[in-house]
Parts: sequence; structure tokens; C-alpha cells
Amino acid sequence: MKKITTISLLCVNLAFAGNITTLPHLTMPDNNLTFEMIKGYQDYKIVATHFRTDKNELRYILANEIGYNALKEKEKVMPGGSKIVKIGWSVKKMPSFPTALEADKIQRVEYMIKDSKKFDADGDHWGYARFIKKNGKFESWDKGVQSCISCHSGVKKSDYLFTKMQATFE
Ligand code: HEC
Repeated sequence: MKKITTISLLCVNLAFAGNITTLPHLTMPDNNLTFEMIKGYQDYKIVATHFRTDKNELRYILANEIGYNALKEKEKVMPGGSKIVKIGWSVKKMPSFPTALEADKIQRVEYMIKDSKKFDADGDHWGYARFIKKNGKFESWDKGVQSCISCHSGVKKSDYLFTKMQATFE
């Protein structure tokens, strides 16, 4: 598996996550997961922050209460109903202090939802959804979720999650 480098940036204000008020009616073509499934995600708790150096993208990982508590307790298998959301922003120099970077435009919202009944075919029990923002509008990912499963299978031992609860938030 391709190694991906992430660095942590802890000092960015999550208020940026709140700038989507109405969720677009979008459905993933291959598993029917919708954007509405994570309604209220702006209020989920922060689990971790990552920076993808290859994509120059700042990412926040948030979890609903079930997911958050399980990650906090370091549970080996995440319980059904866990929802883990990733929000990605492009970055720009902070006008008032150009050596600092700040979140600029939302590029993506992705999520994983644990549901053993619906998603037992692959043995991972997660449903995957990705919504990419293009020209100011979200579009659902139409290239299939197989790539999600393949890459996340690399972290099978941590229940297909790359993210761990970041120490600062414990
Ligand atoms: C080439 C590998 C790769 C592929 C393909 C991939 N991911 Fe991930 N994903 C990662 C890595 C690495 C992280 C942690 C770093 C970050 O936040 O980007 C991650 C994090 C996530 C998270 C936060 C939970 C976690 O596991 O840390 C979600 C949700 C997620 N990905 C959804 C998806 C969805 C949906 C797809 C497919 C449309 C997908 N991913 C495809 C590598 C991948």
C-alpha cells in the first residue's frame, strides 16, 4: 500500500465546518448512502486532524457520539451506528500572518458508517461515502467504493480506520 504522510495541525478553528447549512440531496451510486445520513455532522466531535502533503489538504475527522466514545475507549471493533466523517479543505496563507496557513475552501466530505446488516459482504461492515466539491457544488463519487475498501483494508487491525483519537482531545 502506498504510504501516506500525515502531519497534525491542531490549531485550526472548526467553525469552518459549520458553513454548510443545507445538505445537498446526493446519493452514492453503488450503496445508496446519502449526504443526509450524516445530518448534523457539523456538531460531531473532533477526533483528529490530518494534513495530506500530497494533496495539500487539511482534514478534520469527526465522529458522532457512538463513534467518538468507542474511539475514546480504544474499542477494537467499532459499534454499529458509528459514523466517522472526514472534511477536507484546501489551505491558503493567513493574510494577517503569511507564514501560517488557514483553511480555505471545502474540497470534500467523506464518511464511513458502521452497519453490519447492510454492509456485511466485504467483511468490514462499513459503508463508505464520498462527496467532492467541484465548482462550488458537491458531487457524489461515481468511481465505486471498492478503492475505499482496498486502501482501508490496509488498516484492518484497527477496524479499517486510519484515525486514532488524537491525544490532545482525550
Ligand atoms: C489510497 C488510500 C485511501 C483510499 C483509496 C481511501 N482512503 Fe479514506 N483514508 C485514507 C487515509 C490515509 C486516511 C487518514 C488520513 C486522512 O485523514 O486523510 C483516511 C481517512 C478516512 C476517513 C476517516 C476515518 C479513518 O479511517 O481514518 C474516512 C471517513 C475515509 N477515509 C473515507 C474514505 C472513502 C469514503 C473512500 C472512498 C471513496 C476512501 N476513504 C478511500 C486512505 C484512503
